[in-house]
Amino acid sequence: MPVIVLVGAQWGDEGKGKATDLLGDRLDYVVKFNGGNNAGHTVVIKGEKYALHLLPSGILTPGVTPVIGNGVVVDLAVLFQEIDGLEARGTDTSRLRISANAHVIPSYNRSLDKVSERYLGARRIGTTGRGIGPTYADKMNRIGVRIQDLFDESILRQKVEAALTFKNQVLSKIYNRQAVKADEVVAELLSYVDRLRPYVGDTALELAEAIDAGKVVLCEAGQATLLDVDHGTYPFVTSSNATSGGACTGSGIPPTRIDRVVAVLKAFTTRVGEGPFPTELHDKFGDYLREVGHEYGTTTGRPRRIGWLDLVIGRYAQRINGVTDFALTKLDNYDDLDEIPVCVAYDVHGVRHDEMPISQSDFHHATPIYETLPGWKQDISGCRTFEDLPKDAQRFVEFVEQRLGARISIVGVGPGREAVIERHSVLSEV
Ligand code: GDP
Ligand code: IMO
Ligand code: MG
Repeated sequence: MPVIVLVGAQWGDEGKGKATDLLGDRLDYVVKFNGGNNAGHTVVIKGEKYALHLLPSGILTPGVTPVIGNGVVVDLAVLFQEIDGLEARGTDTSRLRISANAHVIPSYNRSLDKVSERYLGARRIGTTGRGIGPTYADKMNRIGVRIQDLFDESILRQKVEAALTFKNQVLSKIYNRQAVKADEVVAELLSYVDRLRPYVGDTALELAEAIDAGKVVLCEAGQATLLDVDHGTYPFVTSSNATSGGACTGSGIPPTRIDRVVAVLKAFTTRVGEGPFPTELHDKFGDYLREVGHEYGTTTGRPRRIGWLDLVIGRYAQRINGVTDFALTKLDNYDDLDEIPVCVAYDVHGVRHDEMPISQSDFHHATPIYETLPGWKQDISGCRTFEDLPKDAQRFVEFVEQRLGARISIVGVGPGREAVIERHSVLSEV
């Protein structure tokens, strides 16, 4: 039975949360496999807005088992704030499962994230300041603290002390900050143990058993292809694998069990934080799309940088993730435009590039080559089938689809759960 991986095709905030929610009642498990509370997914149900950071979006669908996989980094204070917030609004969170192998974000890594950004000055990444980078660095450096460590106080103390031997040198000698006391860190982490215990398990085993039993599993990425630490616009990336390969390492589900890969592609492009962005707009169209699309960060509230749709990036996302289906979101944000430029290739120092340039400095110097399509000048938010769309909107979707190399199965025409056109079922043909 199907295992679906859902990823972002651009720099995040494509509408992954809404896409997961749309598939919600056909799913049994939704697994978050990378990132942490740097993510921000907005889901609108019956006009009510939910902002999720750490919990998988599937938590909003009754009957779905949400899973925080081993590849996630967990800020325990945020975890319980989110659980409490949802419970207060009547959402049942009791089915949540958390991998014993997931890493926790200790408070010192939040401090290090913020202070290192300050020291980078003009070369900063523009991180969310949630301690994501330092926690993944600790994991690779083998000085991380895992969820399972919290259940053995003496092991926990040893791990925190080992990490702080190094971290306190960095904090005090490089960044001129006060050293952190191991006792305080241990006490804070232990304060969550009793609440945490019922959620924790061997989630890779639980998922394997679920898949064997014919359950439908969706692995939902945080961040997106160009924020992936290996395949993104390094160093302006996050510190995890947000592409489809990360779904395997971050959940324990092997590649041979994955049936479909859905990439969410926004009809224009946005980016939060620093880094190259060839189609970025600094004119009235950028301001217009930011306002009409409410493009302000769900996590940090920062205004998102805006640009036209970039199909070089779209094709790259198709190739790197092995995309079988695209969800094209926010088509309705173009309703009032006379014409819509779409980037189909780049010019780099006089040479045409149809694929992502191999070097980051070429990408920095890429000038978009546009093809311009006519707008439809009509409200499409009520359309529910492809045929309902005005002819020019249909042509736009078909134009994009042809150049992506995979079918567009879902088209978003508004923020609400119902504002969607499903051209093909991403589940039925598996
Ligand atoms: P995520 O991080 O990929 O889950 O995306 P975000 O939630 O950060 O940002 C996407 C925003 O677009 C949210 O506010 C969604 O409610 C909204 N959204 C998603 N799909 C559509 C769509 O088709 N049309 C419109 N107008 N808004 C959408
Ligand atoms: P969702 O899941 C957009 C960006 C940050 C910064 C870079 C590194 O909502 O699509 P980090 O704190 O991860 O070390 O920051 O990555 N970033 C995101 N941008 N959407 C996200 O998540 C993001 N998560 C991280 O702005 O540029
Ligand atoms: Mg987001």
